[in-house]
Amino acid sequence: MAEALKISTEQVTLDLPITDGTIKATDLKAVPTSAGPLATYDPGLMNTASCRSAITYIDGDAGVLEYRGYPIEQLAGNASHLEVAYLLLYGELPTTEQLAAWEKEINTHRFVHENVRGIIQSFRYDAHPMGKLMSGVASMQTFYPSARRIDDPEARRMNIVRLIAKMPTIAAWSYRQSIGRHYVYPNDELGYVDNFLAMLFQSQQRVYRPDPRVSHAMEVLFVLHADHEQNCSTNAVRAVASAGNDVYTSAGAGVGALFGPAHGGANEAVLKMLREIGSADRVGEFIEGVKAGNARLMGFGHRVYKNYDPRAKIIKKACDEVFEVTGVNPLLQIAVELEKVALEDEYFATRRLYPNVDFYSGLIYEALRFPPEMFTVLFAVPRTAGWCAQWLEGVTDPEQKIMRPKQIYTGHRRRAFVPQDARA
Ligand code: ACO
Repeated sequence: MAEALKISTEQVTLDLPITDGTIKATDLKAVPTSAGPLATYDPGLMNTASCRSAITYIDGDAGVLEYRGYPIEQLAGNASHLEVAYLLLYGELPTTEQLAAWEKEINTHRFVHENVRGIIQSFRYDAHPMGKLMSGVASMQTFYPSARRIDDPEARRMNIVRLIAKMPTIAAWSYRQSIGRHYVYPNDELGYVDNFLAMLFQSQQRVYRPDPRVSHAMEVLFVLHADHEQNCSTNAVRAVASAGNDVYTSAGAGVGALFGPAHGGANEAVLKMLREIGSADRVGEFIEGVKAGNARLMGFGHRVYKNYDPRAKIIKKACDEVFEVTGVNPLLQIAVELEKVALEDEYFATRRLYPNVDFYSGLIYEALRFPPEMFTVLFAVPRTAGWCAQWLEGVTDPEQKIMRPKQIYTGHRRRAFVPQDARA
């Protein structure tokens, strides 16, 4: 027998069909209340499915993350970021020929219009790179007007390729502008991740080639950050797309959402916190402060994971790989102690707070000598693959509508206008 939810009020009795563990919120409208048709109140959309998606699966209780059905533990370290981007977009891992064609196409589109350089150059010397990234991405729509034809499959595909290809260039140049260095153009001899590192760090070398261990760790980090179903920035991308917007405008909104310290900005906040704690013997005192409500333990807790974030486990391993090259980051000792103390503490256990992806990623980025402002940029570059896949799924989903939530109005009603000279 099909599942159903029986709702009885004084006026009506309704059987609402349950499909995929959900009821249709609009079915509730058939129930009258004193404040109008019945609706749900869900700040933060904590228990509301806003779309159907076949891209990423998460079981937060079990600590499971899968892209198109492939467990993250199998993808990280075995597949390149571009392979994973292909998987997210097209639903299947590419064959050797498909991957070669995909890599070639992405590589061809890594250059940006020279005027983008001017846009980045126009920022003040201390502008946050996320602000530059956001503007650079949103500006792309003006260079590629075909992107507005979101009903044209080829225009959609081409502009997704462009965005994934150019994102590292805009990101790297945002950084170079901050440090007053010349911009490094994409290099055909280098793959996606190595080319990004070269655009960031190349100085006098003809071709900058990162240490393979660093390059491998970055590839793993990119794969881990590629998508994460309906998180805050993906929801922003889908919401902007739902009004009929192109992939650049929508991804620009995603960059903005990711900038928030409760989302992608958390890795920057973790480093700040570790520095403030200063030494492992002050961890206990800091944890007491968190429990007293004086601070949050940044890099801990997650809206979905109520278990160890599977990405955090993999990143912890990538730390070792990077520290082999760079030497151990002295903040690691504080982080390890913090994790140990928190995991043994009842406050964190009862609230099911575990390390998330941001707890260790900042340590790696710092060891690679990235300034903290770049951490969220390093998240945005790989997440672009996920945003593109989610954008594509959203704009081609016949069930999607413009996102327009309801509100519970709590303000005044029908007050008489008071002339200025009569106001108290
Ligand atoms: N430190 C201390 N207490 C915490 C933390 C934390 N990091 N996270 C949650 N709590 C506590 C809350 O105070 C609350 O306690 P209460 O029930 O006594 O009031 C309880 O746990 C539930 O917390 P909520 O804020 O309701 O959980 P929510 O799901 O809304 O928040 C979030 C999730 C925003 C990630 C939160 O855990 C947080 O702020 N973490 C720190 C920031 C962070 O690391 N963000 C990165 C997330 S991963 C990502 O976006 C890539």
